[in-house]
Amino acid sequence: MRAMIIDGGGRGQALAAKLEKECDEIYVSPGNPGNEHFAYSTGIPTTDIGAQLEFAENNRIDVTIVGNDDPLALGIVDVFQAKKQAIFGPTRQQARIEWDKGFAKRFSSKYGIPAGPYAYFEDSSRAIKYAINRQWPLFVKDNDLAQGKGVKRCENLAEFEEAVSSLGRIVVEDYIPGPEASHHAFCDGSSYLTVPFLVRDHKQAGEHDIGPMAGGMGAVGPLPEYLPVEVQKLSEKFVEPIVKNLGFRGVLFSGLKGYKNVENNLEWNARPGDPETQVFMQLIKSELLPIIWACIDGKLDSLPPVAWHSGRSVACLALCAEGYPTNPRKGAVIEGIEELHVGEQLQILHAGTRKDMSGRLVVNGGRVLNIVAHAESLELAIDEAYKAADSIAFGGKQPVLRRDIGRTSVNQKQPVI
Ligand code: GLY
Repeated sequence: MRAMIIDGGGRGQALAAKLEKECDEIYVSPGNPGNEHFAYSTGIPTTDIGAQLEFAENNRIDVTIVGNDDPLALGIVDVFQAKKQAIFGPTRQQARIEWDKGFAKRFSSKYGIPAGPYAYFEDSSRAIKYAINRQWPLFVKDNDLAQGKGVKRCENLAEFEEAVSSLGRIVVEDYIPGPEASHHAFCDGSSYLTVPFLVRDHKQAGEHDIGPMAGGMGAVGPLPEYLPVEVQKLSEKFVEPIVKNLGFRGVLFSGLKGYKNVENNLEWNARPGDPETQVFMQLIKSELLPIIWACIDGKLDSLPPVAWHSGRSVACLALCAEGYPTNPRKGAVIEGIEELHVGEQLQILHAGTRKDMSGRLVVNGGRVLNIVAHAESLELAIDEAYKAADSIAFGGKQPVLRRDIGRTSVNQKQPVI
């Protein structure tokens, strides 16, 4: 079995690491030095769909798995399917639930899916008129894909005007009180398999969830406050309508916000979350490939029960480049990874790294490394992740990271999954 994973970050590395024992050969597109000891790097950019297809055909790839949103929005699944090349992910039309936020909001309204008050504009002056009569804060979203950085929280009209000034198609949302949580389900076009726990991502650059959207500074799971049966109920509300009405196939990620039992859908993503995937890959006890094939073949209903690691928790931290997220600086030498004891309890996944001319590992992106720790409680997993993070330096300095990842989620015993 030869698998190719199309993903430029830590999520792709987590998928590749999970598949390592299940495949004869794994290719990561484009790949990075983090996968060199277990998977080949193709070096092909995620959006170069023609080159991805050619590579898959020439290298007899049995199955391709797409992690990034942009190739899905460009129709990579349609292109592969037309050439009878097996691929896991939604078609361009199915992925519209992510790449067209206005479409997603209209879908919510049509099917009565809780999503909070919103408005859609194609003209910033009309958005400004609307905002004048609303309560602050308001959230401005770029209608199109923005790599997890397209949402701005506006506290007043001046901030709102600034946020909408550069946008063409705009979604404006009211503030929804309560915590955020990420829900995932594997979908086969007519049915789905729920990941039986929620994960919490911390998307903003600043501690206590303030500052600019930074595309995921860390995540923890399972969230103790939700039992598997409650997570399944969320699927009925937030996943079932998408699968039934769009024939969605792939991983559907619902970004939820609100208190328990009154959750709202903030957005859908047509692919697994980054860094949520780094968390839930650690907790799948069963093999991943049978789940993926069952989705591709539309046969989730006949898949034997999937086993999960119960009574375990995972924390994932993003270690970022100096200047992240506004002006990340590349080139600093990464030190301290070799001394860490990676294995079952600790993974170091690369997101933005490369080797320089002398073979040294250097910073090559904003989010550079993910530290993923696995322990018997959330508190322990978080502590272990920070302990590992503290032994890593970029150019002799501590990486940019948030110090509060998962801390607000530590309050109860883990539910049995
Ligand atoms: N963790 C948020 C995302 O993947 O978009």
